Amino acid sequence: MGETAELRIGNETYTLPVIEGSEGERAIDIENLRSQSGLITLDPGYGNTGSCQSAVTFIDGEKGILRYRGYPIEDLAEKSSFVEVAYLLIYGDLPNKEQLDNFRESLRYHTMLHEDFKSFFSAMPKDAHPMAACSAAVAALATFYPDSLEPRDPHQVEVSIHRLIAKLPTIASYAYKHSIGQPFMYPDNRLKYVGNFLHLMFATPCEDFTVDPVVEKAIDLLLILHADHEQNCSTSSVRLIGSSMVNLFAAISGGINALWGPRHGGANQDVIEMLLAIAEEGLTAREFVERAKSRDDTSRLMGFGHRVYKNFDPRATIIKKACYDVLNRLGVHSKLLEIAVELEELALKDEYFVERKLYPNVDFYSGVIYNAIGTPVNMFTAMFAIGRLPGWIAQWHELHHDKQKIGRPRQVYVGPNQRPYTLIEQR
Ligand code: CMC
Repeated sequence: MGETAELRIGNETYTLPVIEGSEGERAIDIENLRSQSGLITLDPGYGNTGSCQSAVTFIDGEKGILRYRGYPIEDLAEKSSFVEVAYLLIYGDLPNKEQLDNFRESLRYHTMLHEDFKSFFSAMPKDAHPMAACSAAVAALATFYPDSLEPRDPHQVEVSIHRLIAKLPTIASYAYKHSIGQPFMYPDNRLKYVGNFLHLMFATPCEDFTVDPVVEKAIDLLLILHADHEQNCSTSSVRLIGSSMVNLFAAISGGINALWGPRHGGANQDVIEMLLAIAEEGLTAREFVERAKSRDDTSRLMGFGHRVYKNFDPRATIIKKACYDVLNRLGVHSKLLEIAVELEELALKDEYFVERKLYPNVDFYSGVIYNAIGTPVNMFTAMFAIGRLPGWIAQWHELHHDKQKIGRPRQVYVGPNQRPYTLIEQR
């Protein structure tokens, strides 16, 4: 028997296995604790709870390490492409040329939406948030493809995966086009994945549109950096929903909703709104930092802090560098970048942030890049969703491959004890 842990409750001692991951992470396996002792563990927010064993992504929050399938994020950011990273996450290894070509080809083949889908977007109010539209549209894919909903059928799963990755940019861009009253564009399958997305977003039937290679590369980089982040809120949601054996579209739709929240992916929209508000209200960075620290004010310094990273977020380091690079190459001077840098410098020296180990996260500088290339603010989180999609899929796939049970946490009940029902006249 390997290493064990002992838990003493009253006069009883329970021996629990300790398991070790491939990077030396150790965990006490409590799977049989309740059947042995009648007790459960309580961990609101799951800060100390491993929900699965996973071979997809490794994070060391203390050292600022992030690897997809063993490859450092810095290498992937420099040398890979988003489509290749998507393949890596989903299939476990880097593709050879033929595998990558076939994958790209299949994604190209599936970019179009069913023509009737256009009326789906037209039925929404003009100011519908793209995240609500994306989540609803992804759930609705299940109505268009009833032939590929079975999560235990490898062929159906494969085709759903390719459809989803190919169609999410089309879906996101249609949500945007509808909001500004422009016609929906058909995908242009001569373009690459990101180029096609830019075409869907920014082209119109009246003008020629050329993809700017600087913008294309910047978006590709951001998608790579967002592609997976192990058991975060939206990914855990996708796994939990998927564990009920529902189809992939329904599970991903749930993930999109979870991502929307301002403590998660929605923070990228909030960061830029925070920077714009600081600029418009004429606040100093110092004044805003004081606000974010104040207990009487609900504002947080958006784009700062992370549940796992307690030293630095390696994605933020890469994005900050890319931010200067992209703005330089586009010849854009950004007041928002200046404010962001000032906020970061102040916060990193401030006792409040230092004590709580709060550092810039992936969302702090990404919005400055999106903003500089003309992306509408309410599309920022939808871009995050396009990036995170392969990660959600890889984790969903792993869940089914590992034949995990339905996810069903327990609770400690603290409500009223049994009481007699009183008739309404007597209340
Ligand atoms: N500004 C000011 N105070 C903060 C911030 C912040 N951005 N983040 C955390 N704190 C404080 C918080 O008030 C608490 O203080 P105290 O101990 O005095 O009550 C302490 O730091 C710990 O915060 P927490 O909310 O318990 O920490 P958590 O690990 O549960 O939350 C977080 C992590 C990311 C939700 C949080 O840091 C946050 O809300 N940050 C701002 C939103 C944001 O940028 N989210 C994007 C995260 S990265 C991308 C992604 O996951 O999608």
